[in-house]
Amino acid sequence: MNANFPPILVSQTDLTVPAPHAADVDAVLIPAEQLQDRIGQLARQITADYAGRDTVIVALLSGTVMFLADLMRRLEFPMRLDFMGVSSYGSGTESGQLVYTKELKLSIRGRHVLVVDDILDTGKTLRSVTAKLAELGPASLKTCVLLDKPERRSGQFEVDYVGFAIPNLFVVGYGLDFDERYRNLPFVGVLKPHVYSDPA
Ligand code: PRP
Repeated sequence: MNANFPPILVSQTDLTVPAPHAADVDAVLIPAEQLQDRIGQLARQITADYAGRDTVIVALLSGTVMFLADLMRRLEFPMRLDFMGVSSYGSGTESGQLVYTKELKLSIRGRHVLVVDDILDTGKTLRSVTAKLAELGPASLKTCVLLDKPERRSGQFEVDYVGFAIPNLFVVGYGLDFDERYRNLPFVGVLKPHVYSDPA
């Protein structure tokens, strides 16, 4: 963790969940405006740290799409973008075995790599991805996540840039899914337990 850039701690808001999502989503955890404010802060810090470096952003599919788009357009330095596909196939709410579905297209040798992902949960994904990328000889390798669930960590993993530290709730929206749904919500919300305990 970057000691100069601690995460914002959040808890549920009393904002009303918009009608189309209210059947499945219990509460708004992070409203759209707060997401944008924090992403602006992250972008300013990353711009200060990476300006003048030969940088490759490596984004992990698919949950990072909204965060990546909003972060990237605020990064004020020349950079390259590549994607890795990595998914944790497990049952229900538990993460299972990691499967790589897309490999890098660009060379990262001698370049400064920033891995961007939506959420750090057990840490299994970022541990595996960073170990794999480190073998390719980057000049430096750091990580950035929008959300961190510290209570869920299994084993050690230190992330460099974090948007928000969140409680151990099942969150969806702003790119995050359950069963590939809810990624389009413009806010981060808490899923109602009936959705994942009794999936249709
Ligand atoms: C999610 C999320 C992270 C990972 C975090 O990916 O996008 O990459 O889980 O969990 P971990 O810290 O326990 O490894 P998922 O496999 O659900 O794929 P997705 O991004 O396509 O939703």
